[in-house]
Formats: sequence, C-alpha cells, structure tokens
Amino acid sequence: LAEGPLAGRHVLVTSGPTHEPIDPVRYIANRSSGAQGTAIAAGLRDLGARVTFVTGPATVPPPPGVTVVRVETAREMLAAVQAALPADAAVMAAAVADWRVANAAGQKMKKDGSGKAPALEFAENPDILATVSRMTEGRPRLVVGFAAETERVEDHARAKRDRKGCDWIVANDVSPETGIMGGSENAVTLITDAGAEHWPRMGKDAVARQLARRIAEALA
Ligand code: C5P
Repeated sequence: LAEGPLAGRHVLVTSGPTHEPIDPVRYIANRSSGAQGTAIAAGLRDLGARVTFVTGPATVPPPPGVTVVRVETAREMLAAVQAALPADAAVMAAAVADWRVANAAGQKMKKDGSGKAPALEFAENPDILATVSRMTEGRPRLVVGFAAETERVEDHARAKRDRKGCDWIVANDVSPETGIMGGSENAVTLITDAGAEHWPRMGKDAVARQLARRIAEALA
C-alpha cells in the first residue's frame, strides 16, 4: 500500500497536447511536450497518491506507477477525465487545442487538379478545466489549472482563474526568450485565494515536487 501524505487520495492529471484531425492521416497539434504534466504526475505518485494520467500524444513517456489513459482529441480527453472522476484533486496541465476542425474529412483529402486549396472550418472545443471546475456534483476538492502567457502573466492568470472557476492557477511565461516551452526549467507564479506567489526559476521536476507538496497540504 502507498505511503506518504497523499496515500489514499486519487488525483487526476491531464498532460500533453491534443491532436485534432483534418482527415484520417493529418492533424492540427501544438508544441507541448508533456514534460511538466508528466513531472507533476510523478511528484504526486511519490507522495503516495493514486494518479490517473490522461495524456494526449506527448513527446515524453508517461511516468511509471500511474494509471495512463491515452487520448488524441480534446473531446476524448474530456470523456476520459469524466470517466476517471471522482478525484480528490485535478491538475489540468494539458495544452488542449482550443479549436477542432469542424469539416474534417472521412477519407484522405486529395488534390483535385483545380489548383484550389481546401478551406478548414473550426469549431470550439470543450474547456475541460472549466467543465470540471464548474461541476455542481462530485467536483474535486482542489482544481488546478495552468496558464501559459507571454505578457502580463499575473494579471492574465488571475483573470483566467476567475473565468474558469478553478482554485489555483500555475502561471508561467512562455515567451520564446525564456526557453521554458520544451525546456527543462520553469519559472511559475502560483495564484491561489491568498494571492500570488512568485517561485524562483527551477527544474520542471522541482516545480512538480513543490506543487505536489502544496496539493498534499491543501488536501490534508
Ligand atoms: O484558456 P487556456 O488554454 O489558456 O487555459 C489553460 C488551462 O486550461 C490549462 O490548465 C489547460 O489544461 C486548461 N484547458 C482545458 N481545456 C481546454 C483549454 C484549456 O482544460 N479546452
């Protein structure tokens, strides 16, 4: 049996990008590696939590010792999250595509020789973080979202926390000059009810361990 401050707790973590199909062989994606979500799942596991790790097609492998649920699209991710509940806490670290292709083709799209390019239409994806945060029954006690911003990080993160209805936001600056996106380090601001905490720049593993400790304290 697991030991540690999170023993007996179930924590749900989303991670990685989503892939949104254009046709059976093509998709729209983003550059999320899944590194931070993977580290958080490992950090929670190390404190004794039972972790369900719902991951899109990430470039880093999922951590051992957690229940892995692999998904492709945002809609699949939402369904997997709902199937994995109830949970004591949910950490939504996935980089979910905001839009899916509304007119995705059932067969591989072909050039028809006319020289005319196809036009993609988009439809908004469900917001998984907002959906879970606003559950009226069976809401996890602690819902944590992420905010990747390139400017006015704290302001945008506070607004995001209010808009989505989550308890905490882990905000970071993903401007290209920071090297954070796809890199091994992160510099985050944790937004809670009590205000904003600026954490020093540290490895993504260290951010994950510290966040897991804070989650354990909040659930204690
Ligand atoms: O709105 P934005 O994408 O910046 O919000 C980021 C946060 O919301 C992350 O925690 C992300 O996992 C979550 N999110 C989600 N479902 C979406 C979009 C974002 O869960 N469709």
